[in-house]
Amino acid sequence: IQQTFLMVKPDGVQRSIVGEIVSRFEKKGFQLVGAKLMHVSQDLAETHYGEHREKPFFKELVDFITSGPVFAMVWEGENVIANARQMMGKTNPQEALPGTIRGDYGLIVDKNVIHGSDSPESAQREIALFFSESEVVSYNKQLNSLLY
Ligand code: GTP
Ligand code: MG
Repeated sequence: IQQTFLMVKPDGVQRSIVGEIVSRFEKKGFQLVGAKLMHVSQDLAETHYGEHREKPFFKELVDFITSGPVFAMVWEGENVIANARQMMGKTNPQEALPGTIRGDYGLIVDKNVIHGSDSPESAQREIALFFSESEVVSYNKQLNSLLY
């Protein structure tokens, strides 16, 4: 079964919408298998966003993600990587449809509330970056027999 890395960014934590965001993925049927409130170090931020190192907004991006606590999560479920990205909406909240997380809660691209892995490769990389093996819990939910 597929896993993805999702992270409520510092703006989402400050605005007290962590619970609301968790709730959306829970209601969809995805299963939370790892979670923690944490500060992202400079090092972790630069590694995590390594693909954007050459972009003009890189410093801004790293400054923002290290500016306050984030809520880091691992979620599990059928096609969760692509599905979570759909639920998040477009990167720029101005283009994200209402009903998506960024469409409902975001206004500008620099502060777009949530991060989600964009491929199986980044999911694997990002989960390993943020979580130790013992912090990701495998368990069976009764609900699964109704979902699958
Ligand atoms: P993530 O899930 O956060 O990785 O977003 P994404 O995959 O939808 O977008 P992408 O990986 O292309 O960009 C990473 C992050 O950089 C975005 O989520 C934005 O927060 C930020 N970003 C993208 N474009 C800009 C920009 O023009 N200015 C600033 N300040 N940030 C940007
Ligand atoms: Mg990305």
